[in-house]
This record gives sequence, C-alpha cells and structure tokens, in this order.
Amino acid sequence: MTDNSVKGTTAVYGVIGCPIEHTLSPLIHNTFAAQKGRDMKYLPFLVQSESLGDAVRGAQALGIRGMNVTVPHKKDIMQYLCDVDKDAQAIGAVNTILLTENGYKGYNTDVIGVYYAIRNKGYDVKDKTVLLLGAGGAASACAVMAASRGAKKLYIANRTLQKAQELAERVKKYYDTDVEALPLDGIYDIPACDVVINSTVMGFGKNVGLSAIEDKNFFKDKNVEFLIDIVYSPWETKIMQDASEMGVPNVNGFGMLVYQAVAAEEIWFEEKVSIEEQTKLCDILTEVVKN
Ligand code: ATR
Repeated sequence: MTDNSVKGTTAVYGVIGCPIEHTLSPLIHNTFAAQKGRDMKYLPFLVQSESLGDAVRGAQALGIRGMNVTVPHKKDIMQYLCDVDKDAQAIGAVNTILLTENGYKGYNTDVIGVYYAIRNKGYDVKDKTVLLLGAGGAASACAVMAASRGAKKLYIANRTLQKAQELAERVKKYYDTDVEALPLDGIYDIPACDVVINSTVMGFGKNVGLSAIEDKNFFKDKNVEFLIDIVYSPWETKIMQDASEMGVPNVNGFGMLVYQAVAAEEIWFEEKVSIEEQTKLCDILTEVVKN
C-alpha cells in the first residue's frame, strides 16, 4: 500500500509547546487544510524551554512559514522574533508566528478568535459596553479584543481587584478605551452591559456548577444581549445555563479555539476566511470534540 498524502511540495506548519500531546491544533488545522484543499501538514513539536531559540532558528532554516506557540513559550518566544504586532504586545504573549524576510513576526490570534466567536453568532462589541469577568492569562486577549474592536466601555471585574486594575492599566497603555476595574462582587452596581465574557475558572474543573455571576437576574437587570464563556468543558457551564434561562443568547469557548486557528491561517496564507467557511469548520469539529 502506498501513501502519497505527503509529497515533495507539501508545506509543513506546526505548534511548539511543552507538553504538547493534548493539543487540538493539529486536528483543527489539518481538518481546515482538507476543507480548503491545501497541500500542507500541521504537526506537533515538543520543545523544551532551553531549546526554544534553537527551535525558532531551526524552523527558519527549514523554511517553515508559520507556527503556533503554546505553553510555556508564549512570552519567551518574543526575544527570538524580529517584530511583534500591537495586540500581542498589549497582551504580552505570542501564539502565532509568520516567517518574513527579516525573521519571524509574532501575533496573538486569541484576540481575533474571541472576536470571531462573538461576530459569527451575529453580535459585536463595537460601541457596546463589555463586562469581562476575570483578569488571568486568558482575560488579556478578551480585554484587548474589546478595546481594539471599539467597545464603548470595558469593565474588568475580578475577585482580586489589583489584577483587574493591572490589566486595565495595560489595556489603556495601548488603546484609547474607557476601561474600569472593579471587584467581582461590584458587578451588580454597574448601570448596564451588552456583552459579558467569562474568563474566570468558575464553571469548570472543581468549580463545575458555579458561576461568577451568582444572581442570574443580573442578565435581565443589566439588559445583557450576549454571553461568551471561554471554556468548552463542560460544553455548557452554569453561567451559560443561567443566561439561557434568562433568555440571553450565549456560546461556549470552542468557537474561540477554532477561530484563533482560522485567524492564524489568515495570517499565514494572507487571505480572509468567510464566515460560512469558519462556521462550517467549527460545526465539523464540534461533532468530533463534543461527542
Ligand atoms: P487563565 O489563564 O485560564 O485565565 P488564571 O490566570 O489562573 O487562568 O485565571 C483564573 C481567573 O479565575 C482569575 O481571574 C481568578 O481570579 P483571581 O485573580 O482573583 O485569582 C479567577 N478565579 C479563580 N478562582 C475563583 C473563584 N473562586 N471565584 C472567582 N474567581 C476566581
């Protein structure tokens, strides 16, 4: 039996991280490559921290045009890049690199991923009031998304107020957006909000069945239009159930995961992917991952 799925013309892309065996990126990118009919393979690469510089130089020597970068290299990789785009600088982390004539340029496509996840459901943050719950690692991309995509006002609410304040300051350094930090239990005092993004750990792991918004009347009282929870395991978290009960459309974080990959492909292949193609990919992968 012969296998001609990899030919002399096949382009190699991949993801570097440590550990790497649980990554869904090869599934997402290779499925998309099949959907688009691209002659490419996307592979996982286990790279230890002490080998990161060698890995980047090696990838460049091999002519690898694009890579994703995951834990624990998202910050450290910046020292090996020739340029870092504004969103990634604001977040302080890179998850995608593109080979240019001067070396690799870094991007953070989580920003676009969360934006597409909201947009593809027919909502937007432009001129809207956004409430971001949480101020950890995943929150930075959500905060930068809201600021860079024209939110009228961004509230960042976190159990530890200081972390919310630090994130707010970082966002304000890069974007001219009205950002306000508040403690998590202060959310009931805000006048209204259109879009809620949950990036806290409430709802998954040992916090299954819990929500960062304890009183579900919040959704009605504040006229919330849309909620996104950035996790997808469990598929439907308590905050999503509460939102549904109060009649508020909502989505989990699986789309964000798929669309950050789509955004990386847009950078590598210098082409826009239509909403139809994006949602088709997300639907195909949902069938695989949800079941
Ligand atoms: P990630 O990288 O996934 O964002 P993280 O950086 O550990 O993970 O952030 C977890 C978020 O969940 C933080 O905003 C954290 O709040 P603190 O900054 O106060 O720790 C929030 N979180 C964790 N446990 C929580 C709890 N019991 N109630 C409310 N928020 C909680």
